[in-house]
Amino acid sequence: MLFNQLGEWIGVVSLQSFNWVYRTAEIAMWIGDSTEWGKGLATGMIEIVCRHAFERMNLNRIWSGTAETNRGMQKAFEKNGFRKEGVFRQGMFLSGRYADIFCYSLLAQDWGERKATAK
Ligand SMILES: CC(C)(COP(=O)(O)OP(=O)(O)OC[C@H]1O[C@@H](n2cnc3c(N)ncnc32)[C@H](O)[C@@H]1OP(=O)(O)O)[C@@H](O)C(=O)NCCC(=O)NCCS
Repeated sequence: MLFNQLGEWIGVVSLQSFNWVYRTAEIAMWIGDSTEWGKGLATGMIEIVCRHAFERMNLNRIWSGTAETNRGMQKAFEKNGFRKEGVFRQGMFLSGRYADIFCYSLLAQDWGERKATAK
């Protein structure tokens, strides 16, 4: 759950769809309060969740899918080093039409390389 500085609930971020054999999980989020958009919240939350996933939970792969039109979500993933790895063509129905889902992932090795180059 995400809260603003007044303690009001503004959205959620979660790790879900765990596969404990392959050590993978999906990251999902939304921020319902549009006045909070564009402040870096999604970018920051993705980093926090990925750190927990790789460094505490020993997961190997975090993945997510987002609508082709959701440029904010795509940029937040790309800023955290996620790679676009494919497209589920017409994978969702959004605003009266079928829309593609862009698939992103970050691997433990990507996370390690990013940490090494950040030093
Ligand atoms: C998509 C969403 C999660 C992005 O969260 P956010 O906290 O606004 O994202 P950030 O502030 O970290 O922004 C990341 C980048 O995307 C850009 N961005 C944010 N919203 C954008 C938009 N609507 N269009 C284009 N770029 C956008 C930001 O400017 C930033 O880029 P920059 O660093 O180059 O300036 C949030 O807007 C949201 O929840 N929207 C509604 C529900 C939704 O779409 N959920 C996702 C379902 S998969």
